[in-house]
Amino acid sequence: MSAAAAQEFVRCARTALAARGRFMVALAGGSTPRRSYERLGVEPLRGQVDWNRLEFFWGDERAVPPDHRDSNYRMACEALLNGLALDPLRIHRMEGERADLDAAARDYEAELARAFGMAPSGEPPAFDLVMLGMGPDGHTASLFPHTAALRETTRWVVANPVPRLGTQRLTLTAPILNRAARVVFLVAGAEKAEALAEVLEGPADPARLPSQLIRPRPGGLVWIVDRLAAARLTRPLASPPTQPAT
Ligand code: 6PG
Repeated sequence: MSAAAAQEFVRCARTALAARGRFMVALAGGSTPRRSYERLGVEPLRGQVDWNRLEFFWGDERAVPPDHRDSNYRMACEALLNGLALDPLRIHRMEGERADLDAAARDYEAELARAFGMAPSGEPPAFDLVMLGMGPDGHTASLFPHTAALRETTRWVVANPVPRLGTQRLTLTAPILNRAARVVFLVAGAEKAEALAEVLEGPADPARLPSQLIRPRPGGLVWIVDRLAAARLTRPLASPPTQPAT
């Protein structure tokens, strides 16, 4: 699964770089993507991307400083970014450590607008790729069941209170996530099987299963899952291409 995800990343990056000379990607947090990020930082995949033309963003961040063990930023830096020696201006960190997370969300919107060369109040920017995970409760990014961020229709980034966790999270919202050219979910583990089957095959209930909110343009959504997570699916998912990324 991590190899398939890393190859999809490279394929998307090479397509965007060839077409527009840049690749704007929002990284997933949590633990599942770590192995995929590690694969990107070593051969044979490392040499297939002109890393200095990429810009990295995050789909969400915990309310912790960047060096905290729970930081999504820290995980991506350790697994990939530190080894690429990128221009720091190309790494757009969500400032989860700030006391005022609503201000941090608005500042991140402004940073997105600058990076994409857009007005901060218009249509959301379109990432070339968004990588997402999914929790056992069907959440994605920090769009947790029955939380306020699920109802956001205009803001690109919000501070989302998550009562179940007793904390707030910074998260991209459905409006910006759904503008992406490509959204790749990475889902692994038996504990996700029930939620995955409900999200993919059950009735629409996005308030309870926020991953159902993610509906980019047709053909823009890819699920890369392992056998354990797919165990409760009744319709088999297409197996990923096995040929190496071009
Ligand atoms: C986060 C992620 C979150 C994650 C899922 C799955 O900040 O935790 O953005 O949406 O992708 O919770 O997490 P695991 O990969 O650790 O199972």
